[in-house]
Amino acid sequence: MLKLNFRNTDSTVIGEENGLNLEEEFNYYSEKISDIIKSINIRRGQDGEGLKWMNLGYNEETVWYVKEFASLVEGRFDNILVLGIGGSALGGIAVTEALLKPYWNFLTPEQRNGLPRIFFLDNIDPDSINGLLDILDLKKTLVNVITKSGDTAETMSQYMIIKNRMEKELGDNYRRNIVATTDKKMGILRQLADQEGYKIFYVPDDVGGRFSVFSSVGIVPFALLGLNIDEIINGIKDMDIELRETDIRQNIAAQSALINYLMDTKKGKCISVMMPYSSRLKYISDWYAQLWAESLGKEFNRNGERVNGGTTPIRALGATDQHSQLQLYNEGPNNKLITFIRVCEFGTELEIPNIFEYTGIGYLGGKTINDLINAEADSTRVTLADNKRPTMTFTIDKIDEYNIAQLLYMFEVQTAIAGELYNIDAYNQPGVEQARNYTYALMGRAGFEGSAESLKEKIVSV
Ligand code: PA5
Repeated sequence: MLKLNFRNTDSTVIGEENGLNLEEEFNYYSEKISDIIKSINIRRGQDGEGLKWMNLGYNEETVWYVKEFASLVEGRFDNILVLGIGGSALGGIAVTEALLKPYWNFLTPEQRNGLPRIFFLDNIDPDSINGLLDILDLKKTLVNVITKSGDTAETMSQYMIIKNRMEKELGDNYRRNIVATTDKKMGILRQLADQEGYKIFYVPDDVGGRFSVFSSVGIVPFALLGLNIDEIINGIKDMDIELRETDIRQNIAAQSALINYLMDTKKGKCISVMMPYSSRLKYISDWYAQLWAESLGKEFNRNGERVNGGTTPIRALGATDQHSQLQLYNEGPNNKLITFIRVCEFGTELEIPNIFEYTGIGYLGGKTINDLINAEADSTRVTLADNKRPTMTFTIDKIDEYNIAQLLYMFEVQTAIAGELYNIDAYNQPGVEQARNYTYALMGRAGFEGSAESLKEKIVSV
């Protein structure tokens, strides 16, 4: 069960200046939170609300279709290559890094039980694309092109390069090595996939990229890699039932959303640090950073007033960043709310041998690395509280399909509730459109000629 400990955000622990009077705040906000939870649970069934990601745990047809495809291609491919960016990649990266055995791609096929290796191309760095193409045998690779809009320049340029190579290497058979994940009706990839005869998976309507990890966007690669999709679905569904609870005292997503919101608006904590104490959870911070930043960072609220809101997410990793960022967290500006993720039971245990008697390191002998990482998590939490820095801690029992699905779904609901508290639209991203359009102009896309000239001048002068 996922647990939240928010004690170290309370004024009784970290003082009035930086802490919240949670008893009072929970009372004051209880009706508002209850209304928000009721409202999002009604709107999740309505078109155009951007909330249909809340229903992904109940999409049995898609799960069946994806599993059937995975069993059909079982044993055919050595590699899965996902092309996608932003919400089309970050969830897949986060979940596979958490759930696959560490160093998966370095394991032998026997150690991987014959399951494929996994690669995500989520950038357009020519060196890394060329580097990957140098090591991949495309004949043994299944390429999954994921773009909801179907025309994202980064993803479609990768697709064009790889499709061209595959055609040269595989002849007409290349079509059997490509699948597309995109919108049901719209977009260029949808058209291309039809023309080419690719297998297509759909991103459902009203499911934005950053909320799409449990749609086909994520579950296709998860199924191909042998992850337990049923347990993922069970995790989402059970968490969904818990988070329908309208009493803030019983709803951890509402509690963390409200604490984040109040810490920002009342206590000036404008930076939100996500710090899991587990290397396998490292990329959950990347996924979370996008979810939080793109959903909440908005110029206008729903009443059209300029708010320039949102808190800045920072990705950190325990214990590594104790030797990098912790100095700043303890002594720098007190403008951060730090969220830790703790794991009760790691997948393995590692004992530190009792081989030295030096006082400085001898004490480690006979303990486990498991003890050490959790001791470091506790110490960090306590020092931060000593320095009156607010922190919250989520604890998961272990890293498996069920618990990871619960954690991610909870963060999605937390973000949705925070969006309602800020009174902003958490499901659009107007702030990224301008750079997209400028790129189109610079790269000569038809219809953008007008801005191309003035843009060239700006590039020289800015
Ligand atoms: O959350 C989002 O909507 C974005 O981050 C998108 O996922 C990202 O821009 C990629 O878009 P698309 O899937 O259309 O290629």
